[in-house]
Amino acid sequence: MVIQVVSLFPTMLAPVITSSMLGRAQALAGVEIRLVGMRPFGIGRHHQADDYPFGGGPGMLLRADVVVPAVEWAMMHHREPATILWTSPQGRRLDQQYCQELAQKSHLIIVAGHYEGIDERAIDLLGGSEVSIGDYVLTGGELPALILVDAVVRLQPGVLGAEEGAANDSFSNRELLEGPQYTRPEHYRGQSVPPILLSGNHRAILEWKQQVALQRTQERRPDLLSDRIDDGN
Ligand code: ADE
Repeated sequence: MVIQVVSLFPTMLAPVITSSMLGRAQALAGVEIRLVGMRPFGIGRHHQADDYPFGGGPGMLLRADVVVPAVEWAMMHHREPATILWTSPQGRRLDQQYCQELAQKSHLIIVAGHYEGIDERAIDLLGGSEVSIGDYVLTGGELPALILVDAVVRLQPGVLGAEEGAANDSFSNRELLEGPQYTRPEHYRGQSVPPILLSGNHRAILEWKQQVALQRTQERRPDLLSDRIDDGN
């Protein structure tokens, strides 16, 4: 899978995509993450990338005549047709199901909006989908772009240590939250690991895990359970 992130601030993204899991994915799992800076596509001597919105309004918009060539450059630099994603609070809300859909694609181009957004014509001309990472507003699309990259890359085969890792996650089947987990030491500041986890009885452990996962979901996210009933699952 090739993911290109088009941004005015690629240096903000570089440390994250080379670190830890994302670095591992690129080394081991056939994932390629490339950063495309928009600044070289800017206009004039100062490579201007943004401008005031027509009709007034707060902040600045990224110019279509900067964004479009930058994205087209990214499109040209990989043979597979790209799925274009625009980070925006107006987009489809990201959830695990959407991540799984995106994880099947062979080429993603994620365009990080900045300032107050992007001239709408860029989106109209290039197509694709707007994606929101949640109902809150950030100063720019760089963090949402990184969240998208991370959530999609960890679903690629070979990225997580055990293939099972992702399948057991909360939300992977829009089912239950994960229950509590414990590691050494067995006793810490008067708190002990639930004895059943040390029992060696795998069946009983599995049942316990399912029971606490259900209980936690009922307490914290009852909406997930009612979604399941609504879906007839
Ligand atoms: N840009 C600013 N806020 C955002 C959000 N919630 N999701 C995606 N992009 C954004």
